[in-house]
Amino acid sequence: MNIQNITKSFNGEPILRGISLQIKDGDIIYIKGANGSGKSTLLKIIAGILDADSGTVDIEPGKDIGALIENPGFIENETAEYNMRFLYDLKHKYDPEKVRYLFEEYELNISSKKTVSKYSIGMRQKLGIIQAVMEDQDILLFDEPTRGLDDTAEETFTNMIIELQKQGKQIIICAHDGVDAIPFTARYRLKHGTLTDLA
Ligand SMILES: Nc1ncnc2c1ncn2[C@@H]1O[C@H](COP(=O)(O)OP(=O)(O)OP(=O)(O)O)[C@@H](O)[C@H]1O
Ligand SMILES: [Mg+2]
Repeated sequence: MNIQNITKSFNGEPILRGISLQIKDGDIIYIKGANGSGKSTLLKIIAGILDADSGTVDIEPGKDIGALIENPGFIENETAEYNMRFLYDLKHKYDPEKVRYLFEEYELNISSKKTVSKYSIGMRQKLGIIQAVMEDQDILLFDEPTRGLDDTAEETFTNMIIELQKQGKQIIICAHDGVDAIPFTARYRLKHGTLTDLA
């Protein structure tokens, strides 16, 4: 994926002032930045949820994006499994084995009759992570992925990222903390609308 010179302003206030980033298969990119620095905005632009004012996001043909950005939305009055089935892209056939495996990894009960509205914050976060990866997406965007996760789930997430790297995924993680054990291939700080290398 090749991101070139992305700019974005809200109400005349520049948030992104020319972001360029080249990401290869197997890269795990870390982006740190203060609250309001534009991390979620950048991920939304990459995911195509939001339009940039200028610049381009070029994605290799055939690659698709999985994303967990801010608070994932679910159909609240349905179960977790119903939601996963629903979110599965129409072009994919629902893969119950894969979803069951991910639920086990994150210590969630796939057979639970509980509606998502009754899920705790950490449990919802786990569902958000699962939906981002369950269709074997090639480009993975994670916004504060470890927010609300317990130590075990944080470790599960780290191990999952390492596994996804081996599969050649392109991964971007924006976070303040909870990602110390992830073997990032590059680290950046987003400040005043630009990316600088983090030592
Ligand atoms: N739809 C919008 N309309 C107006 N301003 C917006 C909009 N979305 C984001 N902003 C502003 O853009 C700036 C960057 O927001 P963004 O959510 O990208 O920050 P962030 O780095 O993800 O912060 P945090 O660490 O708190 O999640 C903020 O000043 C925010 O208020
Ligand atoms: Mg954010």
